[in-house]
Amino acid sequence: MANLLITGGAGFIGSHTCLVLLEAGHQLIVIDNFINSSPESLKRVEKLAGTQNHLTLIKGDICIESDVERAFAVAHTSNALSYSSIDAVIHFAGLKSVSESRIHPLYYWDVNVNGSHTLLKVMAAHGCRTIVFSSSATIYGYPRQTPTPEDASIAPINPYGHTKATVEQLLADLAGSESGWRIARLRYFNPVGAHPSGLIGEDPRGIPNNLFPLITQVAAGRRSHLKIFGRDWPTSDGTGIRDYIHVMDLAEGHYTTLKVLLDEKPQMLTLNLGSGVGISVLEMISTFETTCNQKVPYQFTARRFGDAPKTIADASLAQARLGWATKRDLIEICRDGWAWQQANPYGYDS
Ligand SMILES: NC(=O)c1ccc[n+]([C@@H]2O[C@H](COP(=O)([O-])OP(=O)(O)OC[C@H]3O[C@@H](n4cnc5c(N)ncnc54)[C@H](O)[C@@H]3O)[C@@H](O)[C@H]2O)c1
Repeated sequence: MANLLITGGAGFIGSHTCLVLLEAGHQLIVIDNFINSSPESLKRVEKLAGTQNHLTLIKGDICIESDVERAFAVAHTSNALSYSSIDAVIHFAGLKSVSESRIHPLYYWDVNVNGSHTLLKVMAAHGCRTIVFSSSATIYGYPRQTPTPEDASIAPINPYGHTKATVEQLLADLAGSESGWRIARLRYFNPVGAHPSGLIGEDPRGIPNNLFPLITQVAAGRRSHLKIFGRDWPTSDGTGIRDYIHVMDLAEGHYTTLKVLLDEKPQMLTLNLGSGVGISVLEMISTFETTCNQKVPYQFTARRFGDAPKTIADASLAQARLGWATKRDLIEICRDGWAWQQANPYGYDS
């Protein structure tokens, strides 16, 4: 059992990972400012895990040093819980919209880069040197090679990607400067789906940026139709190809990564987490329609600036280093994501 600080733990990937970690018997402190989430997600996580007093929630901002200090102080002072110090941090907190990052680069650099810097400073001051960081396949930009391996060139094409690449560099500098750091930089491809209970899932504020929540919202009648950006990409059916990963597979990937980091000697791991399978927009729509027996009306529009035609993970290194690979297929992604949408038509505020 470890004492873990989870930043951004109320969010989409964070909440599913908290569930896996609670089920494995860990003690959690979550810090989140709820800018893109609701505390309700964590109430449901505790319900699903069947645990009480194993998760302490702190409303706080990772950019504010005293808020992060508060999380470490809870670990030292809580009587109710058996925390003593924080063994490791899983760092999800951040902003993730590519389009918003183009409009508000200062905001993105502040939260994603300064927030990570503040967190790392407080960690170092408390002698906590184990961190799993949420990076993104976005840092590969327009990948020259697909499936893309971890040693492909890092060439982000938007401010969001720049912030992720910068934090990756900061972590590499830390690993190189001082022994004892245990670091994982996990590059996620396209996380989708939901826990099969339908109790927790993705609850984007405003108009979703990604395909899958748009599909479920159109199927549910929240939106009239789906816009497909481009039908002339150099792919088999002319629509963009992505590597979709079930969020529960991703959550389990974090659990396995943490175990390897804590069990092995200090090191820095850099791993793609994806399925290794490319799915086109039209394939995703037709699998969703067949699996969920729902129509998803769509219209083609022009290509969107900054989209790559094809992104697929080479996930063989994660398999070799962690013994981890995705277990859930596209049908489970559609079924679980639709169950969440149906049970929570307006997310946690339903
Ligand atoms: N979902 C994706 O498609 C995807 C892909 C690649 C990487 N990532 C990265 O994974 C991480 C988690 O993504 P997600 O999909 O769960 O996003 P999310 O928005 O659902 O979760 C992020 C959480 O961080 C919190 N947060 C944001 N700013 C904060 C701050 N300053 N202080 C404290 N909490 C703050 C939000 O309230 C939210 O609960 C992010 O860092 C994201 O960039 C996501």
